[in-house]
Amino acid sequence: MFEQLQAAPPDKILALIGKFKDDPRSDKIDLGPGIYKDQNGETPVMEAVREAEQRLFQSQTSKAYVGSYGDEGFNSAICSLIFGGALDTSRVRAIQTPGGTGALRLLADTLKMANPSAKIWLSDPTWPNHVPIAKAAGLEVASYPYFDPATSGLRFDAMMETLKTCGPNDIVMLHGCCHNPTGANPSFDQWKEIAALANARGFLPFVDFAYHGFGDGLEEDAAAVRLLLEQVPEMVLASSCSKNFGIYRERTGAAVIIGPNAERADVVLSQMASVARGNYSMPPDHGAAVVRIILEDPTLRNTWENELDTVRNRMLSLRVALADTLRSKTGTDTFDFVAHHRGMFSRMPVTDEQIDRLQSEFGIYMVGGGRFNVAGLRDSVIEPFADALVAVRG
Ligand SMILES: Cc1ncc(COP(=O)(O)O)c(C=O)c1O
Repeated sequence: MFEQLQAAPPDKILALIGKFKDDPRSDKIDLGPGIYKDQNGETPVMEAVREAEQRLFQSQTSKAYVGSYGDEGFNSAICSLIFGGALDTSRVRAIQTPGGTGALRLLADTLKMANPSAKIWLSDPTWPNHVPIAKAAGLEVASYPYFDPATSGLRFDAMMETLKTCGPNDIVMLHGCCHNPTGANPSFDQWKEIAALANARGFLPFVDFAYHGFGDGLEEDAAAVRLLLEQVPEMVLASSCSKNFGIYRERTGAAVIIGPNAERADVVLSQMASVARGNYSMPPDHGAAVVRIILEDPTLRNTWENELDTVRNRMLSLRVALADTLRSKTGTDTFDFVAHHRGMFSRMPVTDEQIDRLQSEFGIYMVGGGRFNVAGLRDSVIEPFADALVAVRG
């Protein structure tokens, strides 16, 4: 059975983690994997999560199956978090999934079922896992221009030119906030243009919403998806609680669909449940129960929002400190983009060779393409990181 199978290529991020671990230098700096780290380099359990887990432990009376839709209280709480209270959500349906990745795959499978000849457009670059997820679902994959390494900003005009060629057979993947890997995001006015184009051309926006609250705030980060809900007839969204609740390993997310009306939305939801049933059957309960407890309790929710503020403000202040330091060291505004970008990542304008030198000569680990995890920085490493960057760029 297995004779013809070749070994899968090694996972680059896992290889980087291993290399970092084995590096004996005490001043090494890990800017690779996409997990939040605090000032001590730790990824702690949030207080609100710990408290919710204790309540769950005290109150849970059964571990019986929950069903393919998952925790319905979680599904409605997560929709309120994303869309806010003021919008009409009668066309919105959600199903709990194993993480944001599970939501992406469930939506991709459902879209393939809905339209077998659909093509999905991914930003260039995008989160690398988008490609295998879309391909595994059998969708044809294409890419649209997004990031300009020369300016570290968006190629918005080129992006729109490409999206103008899309039509009702096309699905366009958009990062709802905090673009991974670039940190460069459309302005609100640009989102309005994207929404108008989706309406004019009839393509389906597929929003990956993995960093809600990591950019400018819970309300601010949701502005684009709320605009889309108001403007477009149909859309899908993959939500992840991994980062904003810090519950990465609990595999908590939701696949959200917005139909042209409530009846169609119900039909799609029923198909999503059936796809889930034929795959993992039902999502893990724990993380979603924890999120539900937090979001439904005003005191716990307040604790969580304050903790999320701390996380976000730490990344924002590191961004400003790094941009200021690089400005003073280079006497240029080349790196000002670091302060303007949002989310956990930005891309440094460095070549593969320079990335290798950062690793071998300075013990600084970042992934290919120059993506670095802002949260991997600490006040004390801003200066050495800036010095190393200036040194390798010559
Ligand atoms: C852009 C993007 N989408 C989705 C995900 C998936 O997150 P999860 O761990 O919830 O599956 C990630 C995680 O890194 C991500 O960066």
